[in-house]
Amino acid sequence: MSERTFLTVPEHVAIIMDGNGRWAKQRGLPRTMGHRKGVDAVRETVRAAGDVGIKYLTLFAFSSENWRRPETEVSDLLGLLKAFIRRDLADLHRQNVRVRVIGERNNLQSDILDLLIDAEQTTRNNTALTLVIAFNYGSRDEMARAMITLAQDVEAGRLRSQDITPALINARLDTAGIPDPDLIIRTSGEERLSNFLLWQAAYSEFIFMPEYWPDFTRELFYAALETYASRNRRFGGLVEKTAAAVGT
Ligand code: IPE
Ligand code: IPE
Ligand code: MG
Repeated sequence: MSERTFLTVPEHVAIIMDGNGRWAKQRGLPRTMGHRKGVDAVRETVRAAGDVGIKYLTLFAFSSENWRRPETEVSDLLGLLKAFIRRDLADLHRQNVRVRVIGERNNLQSDILDLLIDAEQTTRNNTALTLVIAFNYGSRDEMARAMITLAQDVEAGRLRSQDITPALINARLDTAGIPDPDLIIRTSGEERLSNFLLWQAAYSEFIFMPEYWPDFTRELFYAALETYASRNRRFGGLVEKTAAAVGT
C-alpha cells in the first residue's frame, strides 16, 4: 500500500503504454519479451492507481492500427491480453476493480470477445477503480461508429439533426458515462496521440516521459501525478485554476 498523498488526484488517468519493443531491442531480446514485461507494469500501475484513489484508469492495450504489425506479433499481443484476463480477473475482482472495454467489438475472435465480456460482467458492480481497457480501439473509428448511430436515429425520425449536441455525441462514444481523462501519460519519448481519445482529450493535461513502458513504476506514476497537481487548468477561461482546485 502507498502512504503517498497528493494535493489532488486526477479522477481519470489514461496511459499510452509505449516502448515495449524498444525496451526489448535495447537488451537484445525479442519484442515479445518487452510485451511480457509490459504486463507486469500494467499490474503495478493498476494497484498504484487504486491505492491513491484514482477512479478511472484507461490503458491503451491495442490500437485499431496495430493489426498492421506482423502476424506473429499480433498473435503474441492477443495471447498476452487473453492470459492477463484469465490470470488476473479474480485478483482485479478482489481489488474491487470494475473492468470496462472500449474499442470495436465486431469481427473480434470469439474467445477474446467472450473473455472481455466476462471481465465486464463479473466486475460490473465493483466500486473502486474502473479499469478501462482500450482494445482494438481507435478514436476515429469510435467517432465514425458513434456518428452512424446518430445518423440512423435521424433517418428513422427519432432525432432531429439540429438536436445533436456535444453531450449527445459523448453518449454515443464507447466512453459513454466515463469522464474525460484529466491526465494522459505516454511513455517511450514519443509525443503523439496515435488515434487515442481524440474527442475526450479536449482539455486533458499531457505528460510525455522518456522511459519505456516495461520500466514504468509506481514511483514514475506518482511523479507524474505530482506534476499534474502543479499544472494550471483554464478550460478556455481566464481564471487560472491549479489542477488541485479543479479537483475540489
Ligand atoms: C507498446 O509498445 C505496445 C503496443 C503498441 C501494443 P510497442 O510495441 O509499440 O513498442 P515500440 O514502440 O515498438 O518500442
Ligand atoms: C500506440 O502505440 C498504441 C498502443 C500503445 C496500444 P503505437 O506504438 O502503436 O503508436 P505509433 O505507431 O508509434 O504511433
Ligand atoms: Mg510503439
